[in-house]
Amino acid sequence: MANKKIIKNKKIAKLTIADNSYEFPIYSSTEGESVIDISRLYSEANIFTYDPGFTSTASCESKITYIDGENGILRYRGYDIEDLAQKSDFIEVVNLLIYGDLPNKEQLKKYRRLISRHTLLHEQIINFFQGFRRDAHPMAMMVGVMGALSSFYQDTLDISDSHQRQEATRRIVAKSATIGAMAYKYSIGQSFVSPKNNLSFSENFLHMCFSNTAEEYKISPILSKAMDTIFILHADHEQNASTSTVRLAGSSGANPFACIAAGVSSLWGPAHGGANQAALEMLEEIGSTKNINKYIKKAKNKKDPFKLMGFGHRVYKNYDPRAKILKGICQKVLKHVGIKNDPILKLAMTLEKIALKDKYFIEKRLYPNVDFYSGIILRAIGFPPEMFTVIFAISRTAGWTAQWTEMIEDPIQKIGRPRQLYTGNKSLKYGTIRSKKNTR
Ligand code: CMC
Repeated sequence: MANKKIIKNKKIAKLTIADNSYEFPIYSSTEGESVIDISRLYSEANIFTYDPGFTSTASCESKITYIDGENGILRYRGYDIEDLAQKSDFIEVVNLLIYGDLPNKEQLKKYRRLISRHTLLHEQIINFFQGFRRDAHPMAMMVGVMGALSSFYQDTLDISDSHQRQEATRRIVAKSATIGAMAYKYSIGQSFVSPKNNLSFSENFLHMCFSNTAEEYKISPILSKAMDTIFILHADHEQNASTSTVRLAGSSGANPFACIAAGVSSLWGPAHGGANQAALEMLEEIGSTKNINKYIKKAKNKKDPFKLMGFGHRVYKNYDPRAKILKGICQKVLKHVGIKNDPILKLAMTLEKIALKDKYFIEKRLYPNVDFYSGIILRAIGFPPEMFTVIFAISRTAGWTAQWTEMIEDPIQKIGRPRQLYTGNKSLKYGTIRSKKNTR
């Protein structure tokens, strides 16, 4: 059934298969590409579409985030990312993503209070943490503890109740920072630091990570602003792998904590959020500007699995606007923490310059993405590379919960259930395989 909410235009797509013709409506977006509604294709023509990696598939209708990959534009609910990074703070952006427009002063004050009320974790979660190995990756703890919240907060599991959905959303955003900080503390063998609700979201996260029982961390406004900007820039990015994972998990009616844990898992991969850790490790491995050409050569070699981490994007065929903002604040943060002429920043900037002049990167339109410069800033703030993807996950809880809410509230929402092009065996008589020579 066609979605009545989508603005329809009069265009029709015609498909001819052998002697039969089929017509499908084309819907216009408010900006960007139109879509062909092929939801009736199977029932009418008994055929599926085939699109590995979903390179030509719009999986849903959404009003949250817009990306113009050709021109390097990113907007949340219509607002340019540059304006939000400069003028907003993370909690205002969370409110914007979830509720659809910027809050007024009173609404924002109330929302800040609501979020900060949820920063504490149930005491038994501390015991849950103790079950992880000392050397567990903090993302492993994020995946596990996020999913476990569904056992600790059973009063917000009813997804048909709008109040419970909103409460679950606030819990997820607020507690993600506490879980991330606890994962960090656990990994370095320090005791957990309780949140302080008189601090902003970013200040509180820095406090929980860097204060300890013996010393209070002095929060610098420059570093907390940088932290907040990082949270804003990573907050949403339309239907990427982890967001689509959250939507697919949620389409079955699974509870929000379980869905967000699925999103954290998907984010962890090096092609997605894990690229920020991989990018910094790559820069450290390259080590010196002298070695750049060798690594550029490796990245271009089809037989070599090496890729320039923090480069390339499915949607951006231009400079990622988030990378531009981050590159701009790198120097400020490094200067503030007393790092003069950081060799890693120099290496990153030289690598970028060389890659952007290289025919391979020009032809494939590969530019630095959000993960290229974020690690340099996070490292200067004091985080080890293993925490970079955790920080991405904390930010993305905003987008995941907004997208999950939009999906649950969509009247045409149904369980996501793709089909396949089956290329396995036809019906076999039992025993046939065993009688053949087994080549495994
Ligand atoms: N280094 C070298 N070659 C590359 C790179 C790279 N970073 N990225 C893409 N290519 C090549 C790729 O090999 C392919 O070549 P060919 O057409 O000859 O087969 C071509 O460019 C197109 O790339 P693709 O892999 O088909 O594109 P995709 O849209 O499937 O993948 C990507 C996008 C981001 C996974 C990929 O560019 C990549 O692996 N980049 C490095 C990892 C990274 O930085 N990921 C973070 C993405 S941004 C943050 C987020 O949203 O999570």
